[in-house]
Amino acid sequence: MNITWHETSKQFHLYNDRISYVLYVQPNGELGQLYYGKRIHDKKDFRYVVQHQWKALTSYFDMDNAFSLELNLQEYPSFGSGDYDAEAFCLVEENGSRISNFIYQEHRIYEGKAELPGLPATYGTAKEVMTLEVTLKDAVSGALLILSYSIFDRTSVIARHAEFRNVGEQHLLLDRALSACLDLPDADYDWMQFSGSWGRERFPVIRKIGTGTIAIESRRGHSSQNANPFVILKRKETSEIQGEAIGFSFVYSGNFLAQAQKNTDGRLRIVMGIHPETFSWPLAPGESFVTPEVLIGRSEEGLSGLSRIFHHLYNDHLVRGYWQNRPRPILLNNWEATCMDFTQERILDIAKKGKEAGVELFVLDDGWFGARDDDRRGLGDWVENPKKLPQGMKGLAEKVNEMGLKFGFWIEPEMVNEDSDLYRAHPDWILSVPGRKSSLGRWQLVLDFSKPEVVEYIYDMLYRVIKDAPISYIKWDMNRSISECFSIGKDPAHQGEVYHRYILGVYDLYERLRTAFPEILFESCSSGGGRFDAGMLYYAPQAWCSDNTDGEDRCLIQYGTSFGYPISSIGAHVSAVPNQQTGRAVPIRMRGNVAMFGAFGYELDLNEISDDEFEIVKEQIAFVKEHRMLLQYGDLYRLRSPFEKAQAAWISVSGDRKEALLAVHTMRATVNHLPERLKLAGLDPECLYQLGENSYYGDELMEVGLPMKDACLPGYRIDQDDSSVVLYLKAQA
Ligand code: GLA
Repeated sequence: MNITWHETSKQFHLYNDRISYVLYVQPNGELGQLYYGKRIHDKKDFRYVVQHQWKALTSYFDMDNAFSLELNLQEYPSFGSGDYDAEAFCLVEENGSRISNFIYQEHRIYEGKAELPGLPATYGTAKEVMTLEVTLKDAVSGALLILSYSIFDRTSVIARHAEFRNVGEQHLLLDRALSACLDLPDADYDWMQFSGSWGRERFPVIRKIGTGTIAIESRRGHSSQNANPFVILKRKETSEIQGEAIGFSFVYSGNFLAQAQKNTDGRLRIVMGIHPETFSWPLAPGESFVTPEVLIGRSEEGLSGLSRIFHHLYNDHLVRGYWQNRPRPILLNNWEATCMDFTQERILDIAKKGKEAGVELFVLDDGWFGARDDDRRGLGDWVENPKKLPQGMKGLAEKVNEMGLKFGFWIEPEMVNEDSDLYRAHPDWILSVPGRKSSLGRWQLVLDFSKPEVVEYIYDMLYRVIKDAPISYIKWDMNRSISECFSIGKDPAHQGEVYHRYILGVYDLYERLRTAFPEILFESCSSGGGRFDAGMLYYAPQAWCSDNTDGEDRCLIQYGTSFGYPISSIGAHVSAVPNQQTGRAVPIRMRGNVAMFGAFGYELDLNEISDDEFEIVKEQIAFVKEHRMLLQYGDLYRLRSPFEKAQAAWISVSGDRKEALLAVHTMRATVNHLPERLKLAGLDPECLYQLGENSYYGDELMEVGLPMKDACLPGYRIDQDDSSVVLYLKAQA
């Protein structure tokens, strides 16, 4: 890893063993790009790639009529002075001008990477990451722009963000402040996004890039089920195991925009950042604004290769503290078993059976506080309901601990019901426009987390419940999208800040709780997977993936989620059948096999299943305990997409390639069909792997393939509806 500066050509080259990123100061003083891609030799001057020719209708500069911004790759473009594509930012001056010319002033190259104040961000030591900060100045407005680039040593990822500082005398307004722009000289890529809805989160969608613009966005106040702040550019020929793929991940949990634009000269521009339509930020003299971070990763080993880059990056450089790279506890959650209708006795019954099965952590879900007997009331009153918890949270947690289980519980700190003591006491603490009705979502209103006093109050309430009880885990939910986003009492000029300040408030509360209770494992949730983003992983190392726990649908949801997010982060539970969402009765074997590639658990009353099923549950738990690190932290290769055939397959391989777990799940069987061969991936071609009674070389398994028939699959059949196997492969010594 290195960052070089070539004074004569005014060029920076960021590189490690895999990638190169070359930037330079353009003839007009703004920052341009010369190359992004596979690692190339360092060289003093790459400016031969600059388009330097007159072209009709382009705007040019008086010193050089053959140089136009429009024809060249830009780093952080503005609109209105010669570049006509999507701009990265817009700074408005007091006179209404939206034009900026940020000119290179100086730069700083250092080992390591600075934190982003109040925001989630990747981190690394001086040996693991290097940073370039380029300072540019707009002479007329007096603003400074600092563009920051960090390159990691051992992975092909560049982290970027921008900072605006108003060091002049004017009152400025940031009307758009995206985090990054990447221009590419050709647009011969497909765009992949991960979109969906409640119960079917993060389904991969491939869109062709043609001349014009395509985008994915959220304006719901959370990253959302509908859109995910992770997109991929892939070459047409890129498969799961080979070919170029570039991924863009936004380390942020609020409104976002990710957009690709191909102009008529064939240049492709990707921009990503806070959604500009729900954002504006006044910058008074002396003030500054820091954008969240965008991570740009590049693989030549296909889509699975790109996924592994992000998986390792998040596990090693985003998840922090006690839970970093730790095995995730096997949990039992009562939600699907009881909803809000429970007594302490029932909870203890469920927990006891969980302990018998081998579960490690019991999680008490919604309904333990205030008058919370249904979803119309109680939210916001974080005080134990004495009828349900006669000895409080502490009493229940201690009883569960006595059984030999850890204990955790559910909260939804950002929300309030109208029928709650909190709302009655502070009706002005919600996001709402005076004089207008506020829309409800699940009978709840959104607390105004842009107000520090609201965050403070909720922190105090939660701190009181947590501090005396032995709490190991917290599930933090957010069960509606934001509407009527207006902060009561804030002056009109600052209302455009509210969506972003809301998220900053969420991050602040997370950070305070994490600091006070560093060993608590946080799991984020938003009506299932509505906040599955890299920003959340900085605070909560795992996320509830979906409220849809059907074994078949989970194949799709978890498969789609794995493109951008590590298995260790994917909350996945076995629930009862018929499934509450789909009515399907997927056998317990397959439900378990799918869920074990995740932060594994159960979400049902194990007292209510048959003895045979209970034996299978015990086996599953024992299996997960034995192979947990390989399941949750292995190198993942997706082998067969459930979006193409009614069968999913993937394999998780240990870092030394001596062990692997292969999963095959058949959702719909094809009758009277010859078994196909499945080519495995990621194995050591030279190693002889034991698989049941048989042994195979790695190259055999990867080149010949494993026939999907009983004789080759020790254990169970996969030729029937909802049949599934997880097979352990071990290299012979
Ligand atoms: C959301 C979550 C569920 C559960 C309920 C409780 O829907 O996604 O897992 O916690 O809230 O109300």
